[in-house]
Amino acid sequence: MDATDLAEGSGKVVSVLGIDVAIFRVDGRFFAIDNKCLHRGGPLGEGELRGRTVVCPWHGWKYDVATGSLEVIPTLKVSMYKVVVEGPEVFIEIPLVKQVEVEGETIEQRR
Ligand code: FES
Repeated sequence: MDATDLAEGSGKVVSVLGIDVAIFRVDGRFFAIDNKCLHRGGPLGEGELRGRTVVCPWHGWKYDVATGSLEVIPTLKVSMYKVVVEGPEVFIEIPLVKQVEVEGETIEQRR
């Protein structure tokens, strides 16, 4: 993605390796989180951005885009992705292995 595709103080949804990622630009920095709200899957990349906080467009849950934390329960987080800016280009790194919890145990699963 070209850095000029995302205006300061805004967000959008991009698809990376088939995964919908919400990317935001705040104070000149880029932040990428999972696009799916923890409540009912609302598209966070389409939410209103207030500083570092994005408001889910469906029912108003709020997340810090720099940490992925839900405002009211900060230990609940959406996945975050590393963003690398090289010149005018912005890259989002998607790990090939993800951690999932199965019956109380954390296991690694290939995407
Ligand atoms: S789906 Fe996001 S607040 Fe309900």
